[in-house]
Amino acid sequence: MLLETHVLQDTDPDLPDLLGDGFEVVGESWGAELALDGGAASSAALDRLRGFVETARGAGLEIRELDARDAAAIEALDAESWADVPTTPATVHAPVTAADVRDWSSRGRRAFGALDGDRLVGLCVGSAGDNDFVVVAPDHRGRGIGVAVVAAWMLGAIEAGERTFSAGGASQNARSLAMIRAVGFRVTERWLSLQRP
Ligand SMILES: CC(C)(COP(=O)(O)OP(=O)(O)OC[C@H]1O[C@@H](n2cnc3c(N)ncnc32)[C@H](O)[C@@H]1OP(=O)(O)O)[C@@H](O)C(=O)NCCC(=O)NCCS
Repeated sequence: MLLETHVLQDTDPDLPDLLGDGFEVVGESWGAELALDGGAASSAALDRLRGFVETARGAGLEIRELDARDAAAIEALDAESWADVPTTPATVHAPVTAADVRDWSSRGRRAFGALDGDRLVGLCVGSAGDNDFVVVAPDHRGRGIGVAVVAAWMLGAIEAGERTFSAGGASQNARSLAMIRAVGFRVTERWLSLQRP
């Protein structure tokens, strides 16, 4: 059965009425931002981003932009990486196919990855300054690969003229929120997903 779902900010004036109507909160998510205004804080942020990439390279990983030739590797990494990830109606991740990846550049999407030898082990995807998703292979997590691919993607966007960035995720996904905060994002919005049982 398809449940009626509302996704709204925790400040939305419609929230009390929906709760009064029997809707229940089934998920919480966040939106975060990072803006580079050109001041000293921006240059510190840039140094930080470069540092994440350099640290990963120093650990022997290749960090580079991905393209259609990496489509099969992206599909394989995506397929092995989401089973243990908490989700909400507002943050569903649709599995990525190689055919999707081949369309990315025509839709303005850029992807940056981390390779351990021939194996793709981390990936960050986004359009302009909007982060779509980040994923690291389960056996490579907690070693700075997430922050490195996010930083590489951001540095690519900055080079293309982007100055403001946004990201979002499920509140229960502590790893994702900690990673995005480690990169320097600030949580600016809280979203609730409501359904009526
Ligand atoms: C979220 C994800 C991409 C993070 O990648 P990662 O390579 O493990 O993260 P990093 O090693 O770069 O860690 C960055 C920060 O996140 C935090 N972090 C990492 N692993 C964590 C864990 N298991 N629990 C809590 N915080 C964690 C730490 O604050 C870390 O900073 P630190 O090293 O200074 O302590 C990875 O866990 C993943 O692929 N998860 C599944 C997919 C997903 O949830 N994607 C995000 C939604 S778009």
